[in-house]
Amino acid sequence: MDERLTSDRVANVEGATPFQLLYEFYRRSGYERRRHEPGVLDFTFGDPHDQPSAAYVEILREALIPQHELWFAYNFGDAGAIAAATESLRRHVGIPFENEDVHLTTGGFAAISTALKIVGDVGDEVVYSLPPWFLYEGLVREAGLVPVKVPIDRTTFDLDLDAITEAITPRTRIVIVNSPNNPTGRIYPVETLERLGALLDAASERNGRRIFLISDEAYNRIVFDGTRFRSPVEFYAWSFLAYSYGKTLLSPGERMGYLAVPPTMPDRELLRNAIEAIQITGGWLFPNASMQYALPQLETLEFDLPLFQRKRDVMVAALRDIGYRVTVPEGTFYLFPESPIGDDAAFAAALDREGVLVLPGRMFETPGFFRICLTATMETIEASLPRFATAFRAVDPSISA
Ligand SMILES: Cc1ncc(COP(=O)(O)O)c(C=O)c1O
Repeated sequence: MDERLTSDRVANVEGATPFQLLYEFYRRSGYERRRHEPGVLDFTFGDPHDQPSAAYVEILREALIPQHELWFAYNFGDAGAIAAATESLRRHVGIPFENEDVHLTTGGFAAISTALKIVGDVGDEVVYSLPPWFLYEGLVREAGLVPVKVPIDRTTFDLDLDAITEAITPRTRIVIVNSPNNPTGRIYPVETLERLGALLDAASERNGRRIFLISDEAYNRIVFDGTRFRSPVEFYAWSFLAYSYGKTLLSPGERMGYLAVPPTMPDRELLRNAIEAIQITGGWLFPNASMQYALPQLETLEFDLPLFQRKRDVMVAALRDIGYRVTVPEGTFYLFPESPIGDDAAFAAALDREGVLVLPGRMFETPGFFRICLTATMETIEASLPRFATAFRAVDPSISA
């Protein structure tokens, strides 16, 4: 008798490289215990380290008070919430999205997984760049699709468009792009996005089948130095835009985001029911009713960009003074400095010995770097600087991977 408890689906999902690396880090490296030890400074994940704002809590409290008997009924998308999300999306990316094309989801996770399932047939290939967001591979595999990974340009952190072109095959159905990028902080420039749009069009023509773009824009409001963010969606009509409120509201455990289809997408009316159907069968991927009622007020809260820009500037300047090579991120709350030794895991271990926790680049399938997350408090950042200096001096740069 076959006594296996888990399906082939589980084996396929758990086979994803980042899952292996995350399990290893969470379960076997002692991270869960280590991060709570006194004096340890944690720069690993994008969880908030400052107390939630009183205004945020008040908005959620208000949204819980029922105004009629259907307050907590099944809710596909509250009209007021969708109108507020659409208005803000139009303002932020400058594209005239329509209310009917903005679908509220349980964060960026659900927006991406829904988009993958809307256009991807089992066995289709999904191209994305390394370093990626950890969960792309798991979501792609779970949707029955095949991940195809392409490195970015390691000096400019820009997309390597030639490598993307080479990676496209007749089975390619989707390309995922993440700008501003986690973990590099890069915002892809207009020239790159124009060329990307043109290459996707040409490849679709060659294949005789449309390739879709999923634009993962979880950080599109976290943009520094007054830079204007340009959405990849502007440059390619067959695009989906995935957004998460978890980043700007510093509350990733309160699930809310959306999947938006631009007005340039041909026949997009056909997608409206399809998206809803996939959200339902995916396990009701709509935000809780109370989160939806809160959304218009949550949209009025300001993300403290000046604070995060200061954190970035303090950290970048201090690391460079020490001798680290670090590219200034244009957005997001991450830094992706080069490891001073080729073996980034050994360097993360050297930092750990100083009580500083970071993620080695190999967790992003990009060895030779490490990620610092600036959701840590300013006090933590300041306290860490001498430790970053000690670890830098403690390692021997002649050690390679
Ligand atoms: C690039 C990127 N995309 C999507 C997500 C998913 O966001 P959420 O957890 O809010 O759904 C994250 C979260 O870390 C991310 O960094």
